[in-house]
Amino acid sequence: MTQTIHKLDRHTIDSIAAGEVIERPASVVKELLDNALDAGASVIRIKIENGGIRLISCEDDGRGMSPEDALMAVESHATSKLVTTDDLHELKTLGFRGEALPSIAAVSRLELRTRKRDAVEGTRVVVEGGELVFSGPCGLSSGTIVTCRELFYNTPARYKFLKSDAAEAGAVADLTGKIALTRPDVSFRLDRDQERREVLYTPGNNDLLSTIYAVFGPDVAAAMVPVKGELSPVRVSGFVTTPDASRHNRSRQIFIVNGRVIQSVTLRAAADEASKTWFMRGRFPQLVLHISIPGNLVDINVHPQKLEMRFWDERIVFKAVYQALRSAFEHGAQFIGVDLSGDRRSPRQEKLQELIPQESLPDDADSAARIAPSLTVKKIKRDGESPLESPDVLGKFVEIDTVCEEGTSTLPSSNLEIVSKQKRREGTYRQTQFPTSRSIHTASEDLPYSSGTDRTP
Ligand SMILES: Nc1ncnc2c1ncn2[C@@H]1O[C@H](COP(=O)(O)OP(=O)(O)O)[C@@H](O)[C@H]1O
Ligand SMILES: [Mg+2]
Repeated sequence: MTQTIHKLDRHTIDSIAAGEVIERPASVVKELLDNALDAGASVIRIKIENGGIRLISCEDDGRGMSPEDALMAVESHATSKLVTTDDLHELKTLGFRGEALPSIAAVSRLELRTRKRDAVEGTRVVVEGGELVFSGPCGLSSGTIVTCRELFYNTPARYKFLKSDAAEAGAVADLTGKIALTRPDVSFRLDRDQERREVLYTPGNNDLLSTIYAVFGPDVAAAMVPVKGELSPVRVSGFVTTPDASRHNRSRQIFIVNGRVIQSVTLRAAADEASKTWFMRGRFPQLVLHISIPGNLVDINVHPQKLEMRFWDERIVFKAVYQALRSAFEHGAQFIGVDLSGDRRSPRQEKLQELIPQESLPDDADSAARIAPSLTVKKIKRDGESPLESPDVLGKFVEIDTVCEEGTSTLPSSNLEIVSKQKRREGTYRQTQFPTSRSIHTASEDLPYSSGTDRTP
């Protein structure tokens, strides 16, 4: 059977919340990414021009469509993903309304090129302002390329509401980064053509921390500790920054429930509660949490853009996230910091010791501060008790007590990897710093950070 797409029955259509609204380039990109992921893609490449207003193209190596399906895909409420209302309760795919492609095609010039792996040729379908203007065979390697040109060319009212190219491009980048975080196993690449610039490129190596590195940058990834917890049937995993990489807002708190990035008052409150004792007031951890809850205990169909979710029991979800984060902060502090007094060194601390090149170490705080020029050190306290003075520690690592102003951030300089533990102690921050020319993987052993920056042309 070549035709797998079918029309939804009336009742099902009515049971589905209000239709998708294509508001801006980022909404188009969201739908195209969802489709590519639903099609089983492992590499997805997005290109935008003029913030996506002139052009958005999304290329995937997914399963592609037959000629019949390609034509059907641009019709309203045609989907291969949902058959009856019963399926709404157990949604496994990201899209399910069969509305996205027709909605995009109604307000742009949409070209769909697609080929199934075993097909001899591809299919090209062009729809402009909702009218089918071309359909026929085309040459193509397997997968799908959807190109959306001149968004809102026929709806001036909506066109007027678009922001500047830069703002729209920013929204696309933001969204693509978030979606990339939901799927570390898929490589996402976003290019802004007119600048010949690659905005984002994730490795797709199924390692969340590498993906965080690619999306948020090395400093954030380096400041993260793992989160893991379970409160049946809710499972939580991911990464959170320690207080030295906090932010003024929650924009980098990414909650991914069953593979979808969602906004949730409950989840936000759980993160706030858990970080309260570790972070200053008005500062928030950056985090990426994957939360898995059995599909029948969540309802995603409450928001037209699927941005919100309803949980069968908010309290369990709250508690699961709260506990997982708290123990991450508790373990993380110990994990990252080095306990000088201790015979109780963690395997990780041992590993850090090994990584530090002995000969390159400064033996006093002043020279340590000199090799860390970008560190915002307000005052270096040294006293008789300082570990620097203790002979058995000398040459191993340096600890400097720095008194930082509230909100002062410390950035690792190129030749210094700072592994820090900040604790609120009467407003004084204690930082443990490891001068090293080699890179220390700060969140977990053997993490291939480099794969995140390995940019192939
Ligand atoms: N990139 C793609 N690869 C393979 N099939 C696709 C792709 N994009 C869309 N389709 C097919 O077209 C159908 C309609 O897509 P869409 O309008 O986004 O609706 P939905 O995703 O809600 O089903 C999908 O159900 C799918 O079968
Ligand atoms: Mg879709």
